[in-house]
Parts: sequence; C-alpha cells; structure tokens
Amino acid sequence: MTESAPMRAPNMDVNFGSPEYLAEPWPILAHLRTEAPVFWSESQHAWIITRHADVLQAFRDMRLSASRIVPFLETVPGGLGNDFPLIRRFESAWISNVDMPIHGRLRRLMMNAFSKSVVERLRPRAVAMSRELLARVDGRDIDFVEQVARILPSTVVSEFFGIPAELREHFAQWASRIQQATGAAVLTRTMVVDYHRTLEEMNVELSKLIAARRVEPRDDLLGAFVQARDAGDQLSEDELLGACHATIIGGFETTMHMLTVGLIELSERPWLREYLLRSPAHAQRVVQELLRYTGMVRGMLRIARESFTWHDQVIRKGDLVFAMNASANRDERVWERPDEIDPERDNSKSAAFGPGMHFCLGNLLARMELEEFFSATFRNCTVSLLSSERPYINSFTFRGLERLPVRIERKQCDRTRPGDELR
Ligand code: HEM
Repeated sequence: MTESAPMRAPNMDVNFGSPEYLAEPWPILAHLRTEAPVFWSESQHAWIITRHADVLQAFRDMRLSASRIVPFLETVPGGLGNDFPLIRRFESAWISNVDMPIHGRLRRLMMNAFSKSVVERLRPRAVAMSRELLARVDGRDIDFVEQVARILPSTVVSEFFGIPAELREHFAQWASRIQQATGAAVLTRTMVVDYHRTLEEMNVELSKLIAARRVEPRDDLLGAFVQARDAGDQLSEDELLGACHATIIGGFETTMHMLTVGLIELSERPWLREYLLRSPAHAQRVVQELLRYTGMVRGMLRIARESFTWHDQVIRKGDLVFAMNASANRDERVWERPDEIDPERDNSKSAAFGPGMHFCLGNLLARMELEEFFSATFRNCTVSLLSSERPYINSFTFRGLERLPVRIERKQCDRTRPGDELR
C-alpha cells in the first residue's frame, strides 16, 4: 500500500456502501465516467475505473496485477499479520489471482474441463433440475434466493465437479463465506477469520475427494483436474486445491445472483419473456443482454505493479484499482441506449465475464444454466414479485439480493400431473 496521498477529483465523495449506490449505481457511475474516469475513492482506498475503454485496458494491462486477495484483505483494520497462513499459501495457487506466465500454465491445464462439449452434456441435467425446483416451490410464497437461486447453481456445479450430494450444502456455505470477505464493500476482521477457517474446512474435504480420484479416476471436473496434463506438466497439490477453490467460488454465487437479478427484469417485462421463449437462440440473446444490463458483476480488483499516470492521475505502485465491469457495460461511448434492455444488440463488447486473460472459464456453463432456468420458468409458470423492497448485498464485487420474496405458480394447463409436464 502506498504512503503518499493520491490525487482525487475535487468536490466528489462517493459512498459505495450506501443502500442507494448498492441498489442503483448507474447515476453515480455515469457521473464518474464523465467527471473522473480514474477516481480515487477514500472509502475504498482504491482507484475506481469506469469508462469502457479503460476497464478493458485494466483487464489487459500488464502494469496491473491480478494478485489481489492478500493486498485487499490487508486493508482490514489491524492488517493480516502472521495470523492467516492459508490465505497467503493459496494466493498464488488460484488461477484468478495469478499473472503471466503462471496464469497461462494454470489456464492451459484447467480449460479443457470447461469445454463446450462438457457443458452441453450437462444441459439436460440443468433442464431436469430446473423442472424439479419449479415443481417443489409451485404455488408457495418463497424466498427465491434461498429456495431456488442458491440451489440450482450449487447443484449443477456440484454434479459437474463431483461433490457428493451430502456435502453440497457445506460447499455452498463455504463459497458464500469466502465471497463475503473477498467481495466486501466494508471488510471486517470477522469476515477474514471466517474466510481462513473456511479454507481449512474446505481443504479437508477436497483432499479426501482428490485422493479418491487418484485411486479411481472419474469423468467429472475434479477427475479432469487430477488427470490434467500439458506437455508433461500437471497441477501440484496446492494448485489442485486452488483450482477447486476457484471453481467453487466462481461457480456458486455468481450464477445465484444473476438468476435473481435476471428474474426481476424478466418478471417486469412481458415482451422480454415472449422474446426469450421464441427459440434457444433468443434465450441466449436475452441472457447475454441481462448480463450486460443488470451489472451483476460490479467490478474486479487489480493491484498496480508499478507507478504510472492515467487520465492525469498518478497511480502508485501497490495501489488498489477497481475496474468497474458494470459501468463499462453502461458506457454511452460504446452502447446506444445503454440503460434500455435490447436483446437484439451486439453484446460482443460486454465486460460481464471479464474481458482479458482471466475471461470467465465458467461462462458457457453459467449461460447454459441461466438460459434453461429462465426458459423453463417462463414457459410453464407465472412469477409474482411479492415485495418492492430490494435488500442488496453489501458487496463491491457483485450486485445481488439478500432475499427476493416471490410466488411461482405453474400455469393451469401444466398442473395435470405434478412435475413431468414441465418442458
Ligand atoms: C453469471 C455467472 C458468472 C459471471 C458473471 C462470472 C464472471 C466472471 C468474471 C468477471 C471473471 C474474471 C475475473 C477477473 O478478471 O478478475 C471470472 C473468472 C472466472 N470464473 Fe466466472 N463468472 C460466472 C460463473 C462462473 C462459473 C459457473 C464458474 C465455474 C463453474 C466460473 C469460474 C470462473 C473461473 C475459474 C475464473 C477465473 C479464470 C481465470 O482467472 O483465468 N465462473 N468470472
């Protein structure tokens, strides 16, 4: 962390943890894009990058490092000290946290496990799980986050991964605890302590699963990681655990939040639901556009490896830099009518999955889950939002909800036999 005070735009103070910002960040982000595209936030003790071109640069610029967890957690009052050895140990084993050349090596070893053919094999299971979930909640007032959005991705990713059914709830809770610390808008020591304990607990179970795959190879993601080979190279024991952490952390909560914020937008727009159901290609377009529009990924952190000047601001070695994906995806310099949903638009410039070498490995899997769940839901059910209250999570990284009261009812024509008539 730098000692010197960075420059900041005059007369501007942004509370990124305020309920107003967490719910509707758009006016503030638009203001920053115009007035202070490289903005020093005193509360985050970090630079906030908001224009599309700059966000893309941040994801590709070698002067900015992805090795960020330890520097971010160090911002907790009192710092990390020597209290959290596992956090330091796994910092360099997580694909999302390392730079070239280590990143290129891990990515080559991991990427085949996430291929299109692997994801397409899972599609029928995602359809079946969506149907099961909808049948389970039919006609009841529920919290969509807890009773649907948390369950679907953790079940799909757990099956994909090879986590036994009895451990799924544990893994879902561990993923949630880690996200609370790494994505916190306001970080506390309790969150860091929980994070460290979670790594300990998770490693015990993962080590047993890895040992079992060595004895008896299986056709799942964990089996693929254990067997991954590239020109005689393979993942070390810590890298294997790190690959598992990255998948579980990346795969559970992201899709959960996207299911939730996406459901709200679809529930409020009959024309979008009608468009979604026209064909699988239309469903793909809707999901891509919702990923852009909802700003579910607010921003991702990088650390300056060296000092340099950007839009007249001096970034110093060690400074925290947040590239704001959500802001890039609403930048009027790139998008026509950025604040409207238009599934016909070209979304190839979307920053939702992190445009750069860390581009989301699970993007095909996540999109497939979202397409199938939304299609199954709106083809067969009516969704009523039961409250206008929107309690957004305290996260600088994700825009998701603590809870969403809804009633999901299967349409009358689909009620003849429970479960099996949902398509
Ligand atoms: C809607 C759902 C999802 C969104 C919006 C999303 C978003 C992202 C973003 C923005 C990054 C880049 C991070 C950075 O540059 O710092 C990323 C990386 C990653 N994601 Fe996702 N993700 C989603 C779902 C998933 C799923 C389902 C998985 C796995 C099962 C996954 C696994 C990963 C991994 C392993 C990385 C690290 C890739 C690398 O560093 O090379 N994600 N994701």
